[in-house]
Amino acid sequence: CIFVSREGFPESMYKKLEEVGRVEVYRHGGSPWSTRGVPKEVLIDAARRCEALVIFIGDVIDKEVLDAGEKLKIVSTASVGVDHIDVEYAKRKGVVVAHTPYVLVDAVADLAVGLLIAVTRKIALGDRLIRSGAADAVWGSLMGVNLRGKRAGIVGLGNIGVAIARRLKAFDIEVAYWSRRRKPEVEFALGIEYMELDSLLSSSDFIFLTMALTPETRWFFNRERFAKVKRGAYFINVARGGLVDTDALIEALEAGVLAGAALDVFDVEPLPARHKLASMDNVVLTPHIGSATVETRRRMAELAAENVVSFFRTGRPIYAV
Ligand code: DGY
Repeated sequence: CIFVSREGFPESMYKKLEEVGRVEVYRHGGSPWSTRGVPKEVLIDAARRCEALVIFIGDVIDKEVLDAGEKLKIVSTASVGVDHIDVEYAKRKGVVVAHTPYVLVDAVADLAVGLLIAVTRKIALGDRLIRSGAADAVWGSLMGVNLRGKRAGIVGLGNIGVAIARRLKAFDIEVAYWSRRRKPEVEFALGIEYMELDSLLSSSDFIFLTMALTPETRWFFNRERFAKVKRGAYFINVARGGLVDTDALIEALEAGVLAGAALDVFDVEPLPARHKLASMDNVVLTPHIGSATVETRRRMAELAAENVVSFFRTGRPIYAV
């Protein structure tokens, strides 16, 4: 069987999967795109019985699930990120892991720029003030900063980072980046500059975090790193919450090291309403909606299915991790 961890994905996804096997859909109860994962015992049971698991972020495929998967051949996630899957262990067990790169690049980059403008121009705060009837009294505190002439530092220049850089150039923002691998062709094509990480952090007005979460990059932004950022910088994270030590981020915001932060991702998702971050006026929060456009989510769901179809037909998914 082919186990799909959520109901409510676009119909075209289930139809494609039915071409290559019997599809079993778990009644997750929430939105198919909820970051709340399905219970571990459900995944273990599915891994025991099925050849393929089609999942979303939050559905944790760890050693226990993989060990249960006697017949399991492929795990296909409808996401580009794979930090919810023990990819190394899957490889050792001979289980293929597939994901959905490229199709969400524009949607995530659009949101990143939206978050930049939201936090620098206090859009969400202004909205809250109007709704609470207090906008007139505090008008003076709704001052933002211009984008033009500022420097943005992109940390981790993958496809999403490049798409953000392209957009920022249109605002006359000077763009620099740091990445483990230098990309001269992108520097040339977009007119952006490579910098060592410390120099990037200490000179950027807007810091965009777009790198993948791996065991090596967990808490990449810790106290030491926040201590190096330019005073008054804005921090935007559209990658993964686990890249950031949240306590260190909150301290940097409280100390005025950061003027603001705009976050689409958190180490715990969904972020509890009573979380400290939710009480801070200089923080803009969105619930992991980087790829949440109708067109993009449809393509992600279909591609997750196409990976499985391709695997059963040719022995290889379209996008293996
Ligand atoms: C991804 O694809 O990894 C996003 O974070 C979820 O859409």
